[in-house]
Amino acid sequence: MENNSNDEINTKAAAPSNIAIVKYWGKKGVQKPINPSISFTLSKAQTYTQVNYQASHTPLQINFSFEGKNKDDFLPKLYTLVDRVKDFLPFLHSGTLNIASENTFPHSCGIASSASSMASIAHALLDVQKQLSPDAVKMNEQVLLSKMARLGSGSACRSTSHGWALWGKTPAHSQSSNSYSIPLTPSIHPLFNTLNDTILIIRKGAKAISSSMGHQLMNNHPYRHGRINQANTNIVKLLSALKSGDFNKFAQVCEEEAMSLHGLMMSSTPSYSLLTPETIHAIELIKQYKAHYQAPLTFTLDAGPNIHLIYPQSHSHVIKPFIKKHLQPLCENQEILYDKISGN
Ligand code: PMV
Repeated sequence: MENNSNDEINTKAAAPSNIAIVKYWGKKGVQKPINPSISFTLSKAQTYTQVNYQASHTPLQINFSFEGKNKDDFLPKLYTLVDRVKDFLPFLHSGTLNIASENTFPHSCGIASSASSMASIAHALLDVQKQLSPDAVKMNEQVLLSKMARLGSGSACRSTSHGWALWGKTPAHSQSSNSYSIPLTPSIHPLFNTLNDTILIIRKGAKAISSSMGHQLMNNHPYRHGRINQANTNIVKLLSALKSGDFNKFAQVCEEEAMSLHGLMMSSTPSYSLLTPETIHAIELIKQYKAHYQAPLTFTLDAGPNIHLIYPQSHSHVIKPFIKKHLQPLCENQEILYDKISGN
């Protein structure tokens, strides 16, 4: 909160990115998922957003800059977001909204920037409304934040709190919802609150097929029903592993979900693949290492070729030398990002 009059409000907010273990893939309605998903937020990968709002009676105008440069191609997404959330935040009907964001992580590196970006914008917008007229906020704040972030970019709803989150209705959790995520951290075994996420940048650059297109291709996917069943079963398995501290069970779900996501892409109409030979090679090396040393190491993939290596902090002294020697040479420019779960 900064020096504000009622005509001009300045605020800033930050939000973390997240990595899903059970993946959201396929939408229904307005940004609702066809299956539940579970993720954890990252510690270093954050978006910082500053908002300046000037009240007036003219219809809302938005200006957006990213890392100091105007980025008009993001404006349609922001107008869509505002349109969807203005009933919750009435100030969004008029005035001028200047939004400036920056990320703490590089572009196109396998970290979802839309999640941290939309979550930080949702935080900042809620703060503007609270400063102008707190009584206008009618909903539980955590629920509202997550709902708004979801309406900006689906998986962003899991970035409005720190640590583990569940998004999507499942019989496995009575408070679960398709409209917002719920924090899971209080019921998580300590082992899973000390996870490292080391991101192997196998290939940098924009994806040939966007995630929005991937979601759309699930509408008529031949494996749609099988996928929905698989995700629901994996939610139950993952919740049980996270609670009991069972790393092997966790790793099984994690890898099955990663490979299924890419299997769904390969079996879409039209079919496509975002994996590279280096991704496959790295996965083979990880599997061999795990089998040989019985190490608590697993991996996941987002919608791209880069690999998220997941392992408890307590084993990083043995796992990091393996990464450096065998996996780093497979990365573009040998680039690796060392991150970990946030919120601890
Ligand atoms: O939120 P979106 O539309 O960027 O989709 C995210 C999809 C995955 O990252 C592949 C999976 C997930 O649950 O985050």
